[in-house]
Amino acid sequence: MLKIVKYPNPILKKKSEEIHHDDKSLRSLIPQMIEAMKKNQGVGLAAPQIGISKKIIVITEGEEAHAFLNPRIVKQSKEKERDEEGCLSLPGLFVGVLRSKQVEVTAETLNGQKIKIKARDLAARIFQHEIDHIEGKLIIHRISPLAQWKLRNQLKNLAK
Ligand code: CO
Repeated sequence: MLKIVKYPNPILKKKSEEIHHDDKSLRSLIPQMIEAMKKNQGVGLAAPQIGISKKIIVITEGEEAHAFLNPRIVKQSKEKERDEEGCLSLPGLFVGVLRSKQVEVTAETLNGQKIKIKARDLAARIFQHEIDHIEGKLIIHRISPLAQWKLRNQLKNLAK
């Protein structure tokens, strides 16, 4: 069972590298990431959260889980919405994060197919959250200095 990397592990702040779809490690990595995500009741997981600095994310959609390689946001709506988010790397912490309501994401599938996904509402939020991870950003980097300051004790506890 893969262990989830927690804040303040520096890998979470690193920009991930591109992954090639025929990378042999993916065959075991993707099922393991999906299992770790489900066991921890997450709706998404990014490779840095299991200690691998590569552009791989997995996302749930209802009962199904999907993997995306090298995902990138190519379009985002001006219309935004604030909603509470948590993160498996920041256990117990929940913050309101402002995100675009709709996004367009390009990515590659495991067989190397280039795809474009249009996501809205919760799915758009999950994509933005997970793509932030591979860019080295966490939800605590998406909130105001005041909101960060209010979390200082919780963050200190996580860093212990
Ligand atoms: Co997260």
